[in-house]
Amino acid sequence: MYRTHTCGELRGTDEGKNVILSGWIERIRDLGGVKFIVLRDRYGKTQVVVNPGSSVYSIVNNISREDVVQVEGIVRKRPAEAITPEPTGEIEIVASELKILSKSELPPFYPGDDVSEEMRLKYRYLDIRNPKMMNNLILRHKLAFATREYLSNNNFLEVETPYLTKSTPEGARDFLVPSRLKKGNFYALPQSPQLFKQILMISGIDRYFQIVRCFRDEDLRADRQPEFTQIDIEMSFVHMEDVINLAENLIRYIYKAIGIELPEKFDRITYNEAMEKYGSDKPDRRYGMEMVDLTEFFKNSDFKIIKEVLERGGSVKGFKANIPMSRKIADEYSEFVKGFGLGGVLWFKLENGQITSTTAKYLENEYKAIAEKYNMNEGEVFIIAAHDNRERMNEALGALRLKVGKQYVKVSGFDALWVVDFPFLEWSEEEGRFVARHHPFTMPYIEDLEGGVELSKVRAHAYDMVINGFEVGGGSIRIHRRDIQEKVFDIIGLTKEEAKEKFGFFLDALQYGVPPHGGIAFGLDRLAAIAAGVDNIREVIAFPKTSSGTCLLTNAPSAVTQFQLDELGIALRQNQ
Ligand code: AMO
Repeated sequence: MYRTHTCGELRGTDEGKNVILSGWIERIRDLGGVKFIVLRDRYGKTQVVVNPGSSVYSIVNNISREDVVQVEGIVRKRPAEAITPEPTGEIEIVASELKILSKSELPPFYPGDDVSEEMRLKYRYLDIRNPKMMNNLILRHKLAFATREYLSNNNFLEVETPYLTKSTPEGARDFLVPSRLKKGNFYALPQSPQLFKQILMISGIDRYFQIVRCFRDEDLRADRQPEFTQIDIEMSFVHMEDVINLAENLIRYIYKAIGIELPEKFDRITYNEAMEKYGSDKPDRRYGMEMVDLTEFFKNSDFKIIKEVLERGGSVKGFKANIPMSRKIADEYSEFVKGFGLGGVLWFKLENGQITSTTAKYLENEYKAIAEKYNMNEGEVFIIAAHDNRERMNEALGALRLKVGKQYVKVSGFDALWVVDFPFLEWSEEEGRFVARHHPFTMPYIEDLEGGVELSKVRAHAYDMVINGFEVGGGSIRIHRRDIQEKVFDIIGLTKEEAKEKFGFFLDALQYGVPPHGGIAFGLDRLAAIAAGVDNIREVIAFPKTSSGTCLLTNAPSAVTQFQLDELGIALRQNQ
């Protein structure tokens, strides 16, 4: 037997028991005679005492940190002054047997040491020994487990869908896998199981879910990995309300399972409202600082920059913030919004009851009126921008709001909301055509589509869940009629032939009795990262990729042999 107990298990009530523990050596202390060893495993740490004169005393000289050992001994209570607060802090084991199961070389770092992320990823097995990482993985497991529990209890079936499949459009590039048996042909790894889950509704599965890996070849950021995990859900005979209720209850349930209480009801705001107030479709409202329209105040202003913008039909917006302000800071903010195509920002501050600003001499009256309307307090600042492209201004001010918020506003707790009524389409400059904003299987508002609404303004039955400024989930009610699906393909510029070639199998399926259906998918990595309070989803993924898409542990991606290429019928171009 390797162990009778784990290293996190023994308490004062176990006093006198003869136990066997196995684990890693966390620490060895020599108190001039008596030696103390701290043994660690996933469950915790236990102190082991080796007395001089004991038969195993000499073995301690041969062990070092991170060796794996087995210890047998009697549990005894520590003297009062040696009790520590951790769960096993009341006891220690007096060793009678000590066996080295596996020696460790001097590791490049000890678990928990402050080393670069490169080192942590390269030696991930050492990094995961750090209780912090271990706890993140435990928390992730609990979320996945609670998900399965909740959905199974609500009649959902977990059905697996293929990884070697055909391209599914979610707006990213596909990862391709060459076929050996059909040379020149490729599978695509799924960006999501979207079409399979819809087909499962056509099959009558009624309520589907899957905790599933998705693959997207896109630019990586802190909240994006090339392979990530979705909690993927689809339901038949539902309206948006049904999906939203189910999804909200699920997230509340799984967060509760790890001790986080989310609000009883999540707020709901429209996409337009989100863009107008926060300049983002995934607002973190905990920062406050809502953006407001200030155009009215500047109607009669002679200030050249603003006057010109207003003459061109533009508008003025701004937000109030409790932040330091100076000419230097204002310059920095101006530079920041220039990156979004704006000219810069104006600002004023309320100081000793007076308006202070580099532009006060031109705009004092306007500033005074704004200060009064928005109940400015002493020390507060208004940041203002003017532009004729409202979307761009919203985006720029929204990004500045977030930057300022992150720098100066201390936030805590959880802000959860739904963003609804997304635009159905978005114009792609790159491709010179409309693309589906969510995906092309989303049901547009038929009244918009048929009511002559400008294509860019047609709304979709789509919804995102946002927690603390992260889009944690997104879904929609789907098109369940072939004629509407074909029309949508047409709108996004797919010819009949292309539609048939890419999605013929799905269009066919749409002919054989389709229940109205809808669903959603959550990013498990993001949900776990938010719950763990970490900034990067890599912290909740056992073996993540770097921002350049490499796995530092295995060195993937890597070259393959000529033989493998030949078998696949692939010739590499020189100099690539
Ligand atoms: P969507 O593309 O919005 O929807 O993805 C759903 C959720 O998955 C997470 N996510 C990611 N997480 C980490 N790394 C990534 N690269 C990444 N991309 C997305 C986000 C996101 O909200 N088929 C639809 C869902 C549906 O309509 O039912 C879909 O995939 O948290």
